Amino acid sequence: MTTALIILGAGMGTRMNSDLPKVLHQIAGAPMLVHAMKAGAALNPEHTVVVAGHGAAAVEKAAKAYDPDAVIALQSEQLGTGHAVAQARDALAGFDGDAIVLYGDTPFISPETLAAMTAARLTHDIVVLGFEAADPGRYGRLIVKEDQLDKIVEFRDATDDERKVTLCNSGVIAANANMLFDLIDAVGNDNASGEYYLTDIIGIARRRGSSATVVRCDESETLGVNSRRELSRAEALYQARVRAIAQEDGVTLTAPETVFFAHDTVIGRDTIIEPNVVFGPGVTIESGATIRAFSHLEGCHVSRGSVVGPYARLRPGAELSENVKVGNFVEIKNAEILEGAKVNHLSYIGDATVGARANIGAGTITCNYDGFFKHKTTIGPDAFIGSNTMLVAPVTVGAEAMTASGSVITRDVPAGDLALGRARQDNKPGLAVRLFDKLRALKAKGK
Ligand code: UD1
Ligand code: CA
Repeated sequence: MTTALIILGAGMGTRMNSDLPKVLHQIAGAPMLVHAMKAGAALNPEHTVVVAGHGAAAVEKAAKAYDPDAVIALQSEQLGTGHAVAQARDALAGFDGDAIVLYGDTPFISPETLAAMTAARLTHDIVVLGFEAADPGRYGRLIVKEDQLDKIVEFRDATDDERKVTLCNSGVIAANANMLFDLIDAVGNDNASGEYYLTDIIGIARRRGSSATVVRCDESETLGVNSRRELSRAEALYQARVRAIAQEDGVTLTAPETVFFAHDTVIGRDTIIEPNVVFGPGVTIESGATIRAFSHLEGCHVSRGSVVGPYARLRPGAELSENVKVGNFVEIKNAEILEGAKVNHLSYIGDATVGARANIGAGTITCNYDGFFKHKTTIGPDAFIGSNTMLVAPVTVGAEAMTASGSVITRDVPAGDLALGRARQDNKPGLAVRLFDKLRALKAKGK
């Protein structure tokens, strides 16, 4: 069965109290919309239509950054979820497979749940995803009669008896696309909210003799985000889940509750992550690495056996080969650190290549930026960069070359050479003591 995703994200999200459209608020470094798209991607959809309204341009940009083939359908007035789905009709013209409606603010639907829905579609015309709500609140209620889902009633329109039902509507619906649009054509807005409810299609379909059923999932999957508090709760739930997955995959987390993953963090087996480590997007860590406490990593790759931190910062483009050491208060950006090299203390290495087994002394800085352009530093294998060396890029230090501590290196250093780029030291015999005596005498006179 071919499928098309229709992801609703036109709502303003008033309770977020934000200039940013609700579906662009982030969980684990990715917009909620992208989480919903990722969930739906498990179905290998032929089409993905995102219904956007508030902040449509920004929503389109985020959707296309994740999936360049995603199509945006504009809903300029938010007249209800049924009206929102209807906006996807043109984008799906000629498509006769299944449409699955997802909400952009409900980011955690699992691939297994979506697979269960597609399976249920083999026996029923419409499949709705429901859940037993601990507190059913204002959710739409699923009214089941015998073995059929008979209708969905919105809280505002429900009778007291219907409000007692705890089986609630998640919003996720699967049906043949053409049937879905036909049913929506019959939906009116004569209800307590004056909106075109998508949920009305169930009652209409049943009256037309079609079948409908409910697939149930855990409430945590259908968690919707409507406020900043709910956003942080969703983040906490997401982090708890991915920490547990990392541990099952053989990653040691000394204090899991203090480690924060991004939506795409990949960590190999037998890697150790110490407390208070934060991963931004785009990080891959191979097996058997150690990320020590209080490190921040983003857009980087750490190979097998490398040790990073404590207190290290790896920025986008940091590429660590095997058995590399990056120590405390070291920042690495857009730089390759080759096998066995060490950058152990208080350094900035940007736009550079550090050769295999090279040793970068404490306080070394690649001066990569002249205020207008970025320049590259190349350090050869087995080079020894003395402490507090300023490498003024573009510059190359050859294999097995050495720089004297405190040097400002502005010219290339040939392989095997020692470069001294600092003033020669001059000792004045006894001058310190004479100076102390003079100053002591001045102080005694009260001057
Ligand atoms: C909806 C369901 C309700 C369900 C609940 C689950 C309807 C009528 N009600 O209610 O049964 O229990 O979700 O969370 O469907 N949207 C648009 N355009 C619109 C209106 C909404 O794109 O014109 C989008 C919103 O951005 C959001 C989603 O649809 O992503 C849900 O809309 P919302 O207004 O939050 O629906 P609820 O009232 O919560
Ligand atoms: Ca809602």
